Parts: sequence; structure tokens; C-alpha cells
Amino acid sequence: MSPQFISRPVAPEDLPAISQLHDKVFGPGRFTRTAYRVREGTPAVSPYCRAILLGDRLIAAVRITPIAIGGKPGAVLLGPVAVDPDFASQGFGTRLITEAITTAKAGNIELVLLVGDEPYYGRFGFHMVPPGQITLPGPVDPRRLLAAELIEGAAKEAHGLVAGIHTS
Ligand SMILES: CC(C)(COP(=O)(O)OP(=O)(O)OC[C@H]1O[C@@H](n2cnc3c(N)ncnc32)[C@H](O)[C@@H]1OP(=O)(O)O)[C@@H](O)C(=O)NCCC(=O)NCCS
Repeated sequence: MSPQFISRPVAPEDLPAISQLHDKVFGPGRFTRTAYRVREGTPAVSPYCRAILLGDRLIAAVRITPIAIGGKPGAVLLGPVAVDPDFASQGFGTRLITEAITTAKAGNIELVLLVGDEPYYGRFGFHMVPPGQITLPGPVDPRRLLAAELIEGAAKEAHGLVAGIHTS
């Protein structure tokens, strides 16, 4: 990443630019996805959310939402990840995801969950969750429910329904 790009935690002032980026990348259908139901009502910014800027222009962002799985906290839901298509395949997605994972680990998070493509997220240590072990409040293709352990054994121990943690 060249020095004119800055990677930093997300600030509340970034939210309008992030919303515009999501419009550009995902379109309006994004609000119907099951992962959005988990995030609904949770604080829009957690300490683990990251953004990349080129000057004043926000070009990539990842949201990280603290969750409980089967009532047990200590996990986060990663997503959405969005990189402006003008800047695709230049390593910004990789940078966001690795930094978010590092920050979560420093915050004693044990497990990172996401709904996404294993061919992309596998490189960051994400693996398919055995079908039925972890459930979301809506339909999810089981091949796309992926988890990365930040502490050995955390994936095996996580069972039950995912719920967003609503306090900041
Ligand atoms: C997916 C996304 C975050 C990747 O960001 P990026 O900055 O372009 O990715 P990187 O530069 O870190 O990595 C690029 C590599 O990932 C690969 N890749 C991207 N999306 C992929 C996918 N869905 N499955 C497999 N590989 C994928 C690219 O082909 C490229 O491969 P290469 O390095 O061999 O050329 C970005 O393309 C994006 O915002 N996509 C639309 C939104 C989306 O799908 N978000 C994820 C679901 S929430």
C-alpha cells in the first residue's frame, strides 16, 4: 500500500461515506441479507472497524460487530467488507481483514464469524462451520458460514444462535 493511503479505525463521521460505498458496491438489496439482521440495532461502529482512505476519499471499509453465539460473548461478525471497485485487487481487502483480525485478537476476541466466499476468506484462516452448529436469524447457505479461530478450540465450542450485542 503506497504511503498516500491511510488505514485507520472507523470514526462515526465516516458513516455517510461508508453508506455511499455500500450503495456503490452492493446496491439496495443488501438490507435483506441475514447478516444485516444480526447487525440491526447494534452500534454502527465498534473499536475493530477499519477504513482505508486516499486523502479525504474513503475507498474501503470493514464493519466488525460484537456478537454472542448461543448467549456466549467473545466473538465478532466480520462484514460487510467493501473495496471501491476503482481500487479492486490491490490488496486493500486483504489489509482491512488482516488488520481487523489483529485488532480483534488484541481485544481478546476468540472467534470471527462471517458469511462469505471460502475461496477468498480461506487465506485468512476462515473455514466452513459444520452445518447446524451455529445458526443465524434467517437463511444462510451453510457453505458460506465461515469462522476463524483466534484462540485454539474456539470454533468447536461455539454453538447456537448468533445475536448482535446491542451495547457499545
Ligand atoms: C471481496 C473484496 C472485499 C476483495 O477486496 P480486494 O481489495 O479487491 O481484494 P484483495 O486485493 O485483497 O485480493 C484480491 C484477490 O482476491 C480474489 N478475490 C476477490 N473476491 C473473491 C471471491 N469472492 N472469491 C475468491 N477470490 C476472490 C481476487 O481474484 C484477487 O485474486 P489474486 O490476488 O489472485 O489476483 C472486494 O472485491 C469487494 O468489495 N467486493 C464486493 C463486495 C463483497 O463481495 N464483499 C465481501 C462480502 S461481504
